[in-house]
Amino acid sequence: MRQKFVIGNWKMHTTTAEASHLATAIAAGMGTDDRVTVAVCPPFPYLALVGDRLKGSRVALGAQNLYPAQEGAFTGEVSPTMLLDLGCQYVILGHSERRHTLGESDAFIHHKVRVALDAGLEVIFCIGETLAQRQADQTRTVLDRQLLQGLDGLSAAALTHLSIAYEPVWAIGGSGHHATPQQAQDAHAIIRHRFGQIFGARSAQTLMIHYGGSVNPEDADALLSRPGVDGGLIGGDSLKAEPFLAIVQAAIRQTQTPVEAA
Ligand code: PGA
Repeated sequence: MRQKFVIGNWKMHTTTAEASHLATAIAAGMGTDDRVTVAVCPPFPYLALVGDRLKGSRVALGAQNLYPAQEGAFTGEVSPTMLLDLGCQYVILGHSERRHTLGESDAFIHHKVRVALDAGLEVIFCIGETLAQRQADQTRTVLDRQLLQGLDGLSAAALTHLSIAYEPVWAIGGSGHHATPQQAQDAHAIIRHRFGQIFGARSAQTLMIHYGGSVNPEDADALLSRPGVDGGLIGGDSLKAEPFLAIVQAAIRQTQTPVEAA
């Protein structure tokens, strides 16, 4: 079911004390409203700690990555089994920082998506174009390739456990650039349309597509009120409880003023 969704991606930030404090503050500030799904994705070393601090709250636990094997000789890697064991429900895959900084290919991300879904994790699958690609009018082509290659051969049943985060690389991480709500809406429409062509209209209707790219409390209402924008993947402003909870409140407000589903 499509429901507003706010996800915090802590990236490679926080210490033990900061992670504990942040998770406790988010859990405490959440309230009881259950119209918005909320998850936080701390770094691997703090998953158990954060999971503990979130116990009894409405905030779910997610991871930022995994290695696509259940176990084995993969020094330094973390398996889906381990994530489940730590209480993770979600995993972010295909993030642009992993694609561009760490060189992950569409084929490798595809493998991860399959293994994560087979293991029973909910996947937040990130796609998005770079500034050069947008300026060269390649946005549609890039999104198309990332969708086709990243999700190749997945069943309709598996896809109900996957949502997409549209993250224009040029608008991520305090780059100074912001996508306008219209640009976000347009890209989401392209993604949903193409997804429908590949996997069928029914799968496209139920697909949740989140927007990520410097979302903050000031622009969250404008973004989350757009048709087809189902949630937000928040980086910088998920590192303090106050702005993150303000974005959650913005998402809750949007559930009170239903918009066209798109
Ligand atoms: P940002 O990060 O909100 O800092 O732009 C979003 C993301 O990369 O997930």
